[in-house]
Amino acid sequence: MTAIALVPAAGSGSRMASATPKQYLDLLGQPLIAHTLRALLGAAGIAQVVVVISPADEWWASYDWAALLGESLARLLVLRVGGVSRAESVMNGLTALAAAPIESPQADQQAQDFATSDDIWVLVHDAARPCITSQQVDAMIVQLEYDAVGGILAVPVADTLKVAVNHSAEPRIAHTTPRAGLWQAQTPQMFRRGPLLAALQDALPEHVAEITDEASALERLGHSPKLIMGSPWNLKVTYPQDLEMAKLLLQANR
Ligand code: CTP
Ligand code: MG
Repeated sequence: MTAIALVPAAGSGSRMASATPKQYLDLLGQPLIAHTLRALLGAAGIAQVVVVISPADEWWASYDWAALLGESLARLLVLRVGGVSRAESVMNGLTALAAAPIESPQADQQAQDFATSDDIWVLVHDAARPCITSQQVDAMIVQLEYDAVGGILAVPVADTLKVAVNHSAEPRIAHTTPRAGLWQAQTPQMFRRGPLLAALQDALPEHVAEITDEASALERLGHSPKLIMGSPWNLKVTYPQDLEMAKLLLQANR
């Protein structure tokens, strides 16, 4: 079994509304994505970390990654194949990876394995989730490596859920929807490379609006991925206040 991490980092961060995409915003003196990559590279079960950035990315090249990530940089591969949607960035990364040289000591063997074997697991993890830990990643791999489908980190919904009458400026409640059985999806999302790529190819481009995570692409084809209890600390940095929360969480974790 080989597991690699694939990190979509080609978004523009429109909800963050900052001049710099959020994956490069400062978080405790480093670009946000450096925290994400360090956690993934530090997981014993991850052989390779693949980052998908935009072809137009102007930021990646401006950092000293050797200083930020140390020797583990040798297991990092950067692909400039990001697409217009997250799902497309993941699909492009998986496609490119089958052909790309893999920069690792077992480069030739790994590249060949990835292109041919069904025993390659891919953990897709948002660049914008910097509070994931290496331990959480390794625990997930242990739980899923013999699973028939794969699965995702998620947390049960805690709040009472209201459905709004409309999306106007002054929304009112139409009704309350039961929260039992509802989970909030996080990443990593871990699937075998072949079925994941096939599911994304089947869904895109027509169904791009439905495919907001990897699991939804597998669900479309009738699969039922496993829900693995995640942590509320594994937040996604989406809005400016999330960056403040991520700072507090990373500091508290030390
Ligand atoms: N992402 C990507 N390619 C895209 C869009 C998103 O690789 N075309 C990545 C983001 O960089 C991020 C992850 O997918 O790491 C989760 O997406 P999201 O939080 O939605 O980031 P953005 O799309 O950048 O933000 P927004 O939706 O606010 O524009
Ligand atoms: Mg987005």
